[in-house]
Amino acid sequence: MKFVLFLAFSVSPYLSSACLRHQSVPDRDESECYVRRGDPSPLGKTAIMNVRVFDGTCMSPPRTVIIDQEHISGCSDGVTNTIDAFEQFLIPGLIESHTHIFSIADLENMTSYGITTALNMACRNYTECALLKGHLGLAEVLTAGVPAVGPNSSHSRMLDLTPGQLIYPTSDPVELVDWAFGNNSDYFKITVETNGPSPELQTRLVHATHALGKQTMSHAADLTSYLQVIASRSNGIQHTPDDGNLSASAIRDIKHNGQFVTPTMAIFRLAFSNPAVIQFLSGSGGSKGNSSYSTVRANVAALHKAGVPILVGTDSIGTISANVSLPFGITLHEELQNLVDIGMTPAEAINAATKVPAKYHRLADRGIIAPGMRADLLLLKSNPLVNISNTLDIEAAWVGGRQVTNVTRVGIA
Ligand SMILES: *[C@@H]1O[C@H](CO)[C@@H](O)[C@H](O)[C@H]1NC(C)=O
Ligand SMILES: *[C@@H]1O[C@H](CO)[C@@H](O)[C@H](O)[C@H]1NC(C)=O
Ligand SMILES: *[C@@H]1O[C@H](CO)[C@@H](O)[C@H](O)[C@H]1NC(C)=O
Ligand SMILES: *[C@@H]1O[C@H](CO)[C@@H](O)[C@H](O)[C@H]1NC(C)=O
Ligand SMILES: *[C@@H]1O[C@H](CO)[C@@H](O)[C@H](O)[C@H]1NC(C)=O
Ligand SMILES: *[C@@H]1O[C@H](CO)[C@@H](O)[C@H](O)[C@H]1NC(C)=O
Ligand SMILES: *[C@@H]1O[C@H](CO)[C@@H](O)[C@H](O)[C@H]1NC(C)=O
Ligand SMILES: *[C@@H]1O[C@H](CO)[C@@H](O)[C@H](O)[C@H]1NC(C)=O
Ligand SMILES: *[C@@H]1O[C@H](CO)[C@@H](O)[C@H](O)[C@H]1NC(C)=O
Repeated sequence: MKFVLFLAFSVSPYLSSACLRHQSVPDRDESECYVRRGDPSPLGKTAIMNVRVFDGTCMSPPRTVIIDQEHISGCSDGVTNTIDAFEQFLIPGLIESHTHIFSIADLENMTSYGITTALNMACRNYTECALLKGHLGLAEVLTAGVPAVGPNSSHSRMLDLTPGQLIYPTSDPVELVDWAFGNNSDYFKITVETNGPSPELQTRLVHATHALGKQTMSHAADLTSYLQVIASRSNGIQHTPDDGNLSASAIRDIKHNGQFVTPTMAIFRLAFSNPAVIQFLSGSGGSKGNSSYSTVRANVAALHKAGVPILVGTDSIGTISANVSLPFGITLHEELQNLVDIGMTPAEAINAATKVPAKYHRLADRGIIAPGMRADLLLLKSNPLVNISNTLDIEAAWVGGRQVTNVTRVGIA
């Protein structure tokens, strides 16, 4: 499609720099973007008793889970704090695999919904992205660098990119990739669209990234771009084609290449339900006649049915204006519901936000509840395997062993 999803980096003119979208505070000092409201809670040794634990398939009989400092422990000696979680349910902390974070407040919002890891899918300014990392007790941030965006592409036109931020046919892919990782990026982002990097350049970017032992994430929201990204062997395909259905052979190629997909159904759902968003996202290209949410649904369902790994990501960017908003945190829970809607079981949807992204984003220390893993945990008052909406029935959450002080208690009907 021709939508400029939020996908690249900031959304100028609304977001020409970090916090400018919080327009209720005129001339706000940029440094306020990086200020925390409260101190992280302390570490300790806590026993969560009588809790039913999600094991990737079902809920265990009531048992005890021990949090010892940053990690889950098998040893109950020296517990200083006990929580009786009778008739409550413990799942791993949630991993948001596609978001655009601009401030600590964004991270606080996310964390309050039990999100413990956030993958930022673009960065415009390496200094600012570094300031989002390493905040104890808040969702851990991983980030892409400055994405590879083509000159005169929809993203370049809309995002007000300087020539130095664009990739030209003559750009040296090795240099671009080296810059991204030299500036502490966790993966390399390629924005594939009309006038985006050519198929040949995409392949060279992927090779240069793989030569460093790192992964590429490629934006593709229409069928033509999708086929290019499949052929490039980029690791993670971001978004879903909304203008045509993937063929069985394209889906076979994705599987064969070992690629994974973060469909971000939430942003499509928002766009197709809200004319203001369509207008905002359309850029100068306008949306193509054949784009629809039913095509997105059909594609995600077919990918899932074929066994392609599906990861939960939203493209959340917070509130841009009164009529354009994809909030942090709650949208991830809605994406779980979107995935159940296309045929996943609730257990599969939870895995798509926990152990599947942990595997495909190479985060070996999280995604399951077991001794030695990071204590990233979400405690629920009702069983999410009975109804996926119950992931919003939040009782408590921990990030790296620190209890989240401000969980959002939405409750359920
Ligand atoms: C918790 O949330 C309340 C209300 O949103 C806010 O006023 C307070 O500063 C928050 N505290 C922390 C530690 O984040
Ligand atoms: C945090 O979330 C609340 C509720 O969704 C919203 O009102 C607020 O604007 C959000 N804050 C930021 C900084 O996005
Ligand atoms: C990046 O952000 C920092 C901190 O906000 C700012 O001082 C610097 O000028 C920015 N760099 C560029 C190239 O925009
Ligand atoms: C930019 O792209 C548009 C649409 O693809 C095209 O019509 C236009 O000629 C291009 N402009 C330049 C300078 O390449
Ligand atoms: C960081 O990126 C800039 C371009 O944005 C580049 O000039 C610089 O060399 C990079 N730093 C490293 C250590 O690669
Ligand atoms: C893709 O398949 C779905 C379900 O069969 C259908 O509703 C949709 O119209 C198809 N999309 C296109 C562009 O043909
Ligand atoms: C969206 O809201 C803004 C004000 O927040 C308004 O100026 C604009 O016209 C609205 N757009 C649509 C398409 O409703
Ligand atoms: C829409 O789909 C029809 C039939 O599938 C096709 O003939 C037509 O070219 C498509 N239109 C666009 C704008 O892609
Ligand atoms: C799941 O819970 C939601 C919110 O309470 C409710 O609207 C929905 O009907 C429930 N779904 C099922 C299948 O019970």
